Amino acid sequence: MLYQCTYRSLAQQDSNISLHADETILEALTKHGVYTKKACINGACGICLMKLITGDIDYHGRTPRGLNSQEIADDYILPCIAKCRSDLTLLARPTTKSKNSAKK
Ligand code: FES
Repeated sequence: MLYQCTYRSLAQQDSNISLHADETILEALTKHGVYTKKACINGACGICLMKLITGDIDYHGRTPRGLNSQEIADDYILPCIAKCRSDLTLLARPTTKSKNSAKK
């Protein structure tokens, strides 16, 4: 299944990409040349954090350990382990997340 994603960068530029349901959002963004910060690629560090504006994602049973409860409540996601379940609109996080802020 193929979904559409609009990703808005910090420079307020939109990238419109297609995502397969079986690839992570980070894989799809990278494949389409969209630069995003990443480190652990397993949902632990939180550096890849993005805000989900519209749409649904799924972690396939994996735990987004890099998100604290407030970030989850504020609709932030970890695209390195998230897969889309509908068309999406994503927003880049306005500040760099450090390892120390990953767990609160
Ligand atoms: S790259 Fe570490 S949580 Fe996504």
